[in-house]
Parts: sequence; structure tokens; C-alpha cells
Amino acid sequence: MKQQQSVFSGIQPTGEIHLGNYLGAIKNWASLLGKYECIFCIVDYHAMTIEYDVKAMQNNIHNAVLDNIACGLDPEKCTIFVQSDVPEVTELTWVLSTVTPMGDLSRMTQFKEKSKQHEQNINVGLFSYPVLQTADIILYKASWVPVGEDQVQHVELAREIVRDFNRRYGDVFPEPQALLTQARRVMGLDGKTKMSKSLSNTIALNETYDSLKKKIMGAITDEDRKRRHDPGNPDICNIMRYHEFFPGDDDLEKIDRECRTAEIGCVDDKKMVIDRIWEFLEPVQQKRAELAATEGYVEGVLQEGALRARKIAQDTMAEVREACGLRKYPLR
Ligand code: TRP
Repeated sequence: MKQQQSVFSGIQPTGEIHLGNYLGAIKNWASLLGKYECIFCIVDYHAMTIEYDVKAMQNNIHNAVLDNIACGLDPEKCTIFVQSDVPEVTELTWVLSTVTPMGDLSRMTQFKEKSKQHEQNINVGLFSYPVLQTADIILYKASWVPVGEDQVQHVELAREIVRDFNRRYGDVFPEPQALLTQARRVMGLDGKTKMSKSLSNTIALNETYDSLKKKIMGAITDEDRKRRHDPGNPDICNIMRYHEFFPGDDDLEKIDRECRTAEIGCVDDKKMVIDRIWEFLEPVQQKRAELAATEGYVEGVLQEGALRARKIAQDTMAEVREACGLRKYPLR
């Protein structure tokens, strides 16, 4: 019997992360540690499909590792590695591209959107991005892929590619399945749009207490509540959602009640939520600073992760080569 089922997810090395990233993804991943064999990959090959800052790449990877570990991805309990440290994934991508219909790829929503955003650079890599993503997942024979709504279509395609591969070459891969994050959408400070770096409405992981305070104090609450003594409506107040994400020891029912009866105003409410969010951020920032100050720490995690990942990847590729009638690796 195979030991534990595997979980795989990819992390874009796109710089500064925020509470939307944490609540929408990392928190969920951290809850899977110990229950599954978890593998997390910083997807630098994927990042190359749009124009990027070559000089910033290594720094972005370094920061992504620190942020994710500080938020709970304990490298003692999971594998964290960089995609390009296991180049076998590109070999599998090639093999899979020979069983992937072009029509399926051209129907991908993300491809259509990115083609619009990057009209000057619609490259073949952008088109076959989901094939590389499939290779990521199945190289490690992962059964579960914890992702947000926007990636479900890619995981569905991965299942189809696996079915086509297995039909043609024999039962090599399990069909992976998306594991949807439970968290509701995390709205930005404007209370209207999803928290997103490109919309400048985020609370960053590295926010100082003062900048956190300033941002929350300026955040939109219940817009129908015009004066301090008007009753509030927590159902439509984004700050109440932040309370729910970071309850701490607060009595949320009491806050809800006192808001509706105007015993507390938005400012009182915001002061409480600032403290709760800070109770989360402060230790995360401390941990991150400690890890960042430890010489060679990130490099050590990535080296070890790459060795572990590569071992699995080479075993899988040996199977794939045999199944497809290719030669054995000549130099192993
Ligand atoms: N495409 C994913 C995203 O944009 C990142 C990713 C790459 C991924 N490879 C993956 C996610 C494998 C899950 C599994 O967020």
C-alpha cells in the first residue's frame, strides 16, 4: 500500500504577500501538513511566461520562501523547492504536450485573460502553461491540489491529460483533484474588490503597526452608516469580516450586537480589529526576521527540498520513459 497521499501546490514568486494570500491559500496549506505528504513548489518556469524582471527573480524566490515558512509552512513537515531545480518537469511537459489537444489549451480562461493583458507577448509557453502545471502535479503523483477557484479549470484539464496519457501508455498516474479553499473571498480595504496587489487595497504581511492602523482607519465600513449614532449593519461591513478572520479573544456576537445598536461606532470597532490583526502579524514578522537573519537558511531549505523532489521526479520519469518506449536514462 502506498503510504500517505500527496498534496501539491505551486506558488508564484511574485513578491510581497498580503492577508488575502495568507487567508486564501497559505493558511489552508498549513492545515494539511501532517495529514498528507505535502509538496510546495515555487514556480519560476511559470513566472517566465510573462515579462518579468530578471534581476529580481532570485530575490522574489527568497522572499516567497521566507513568507510562506513564517506563515506556517514548516519545512520540517513538508517539501519546499524551486521548480527549475527539478528540470525533469520540462521533460514530462514535453511528453504530456503530445497528448494534449491544442483546442483544450485555447479554451483556458487564464490563457485568454493573459493574452489580452500581454498582447505583445503571447508566447508558446503562455499557451502550454497548463501542461507544465499538469507535469508539476503528476511528476509527484499528487492526488490533491489545494488551489483557489481560478485554478480549478487547470486541474480539470490535468485530469483529462492524465486520462489520455494513461489510456495510451498504461496506468502510470493518479488523477489529481482540486482541493478548494474554504475561506470566503477576502476583500480589500475598499470593501468592494478582492484584496489584490494590483488594486493597492491590501494589508501586507510586512505592514508596520502604524501603517496597519492607518490603513484600517481609512477602510470602508458600512457606507449607509453616516453618523456615530446611526445603527450599523455588520452584515455588509467588511471590517466585520476581518473580525471573523482574526477573532482573537473577542466576543464577535457582542461586537455584532453593539454595532447594530450603535453602542460602538466604526472607530471603536476598527481599533479592536487593528489589535487582532497585529496579534497575528507581529509574531509572523518576528519569525520571518529570525529566519532571514539565519545565514544560509533559505538555501538549505531549498537544497534539501530539491533533493527530495528530484528523487521522486527521477523515479517517475523512469516509469514514463519505459511506458512510452523511450530509452532508459543513459547515465544513472
Ligand atoms: N498556476 C498556479 C497559479 O497561478 C500556480 C501553479 C503552478 C500551480 N503549478 C501548479 C498550482 C501546480 C497548483 C499546482 O496560482
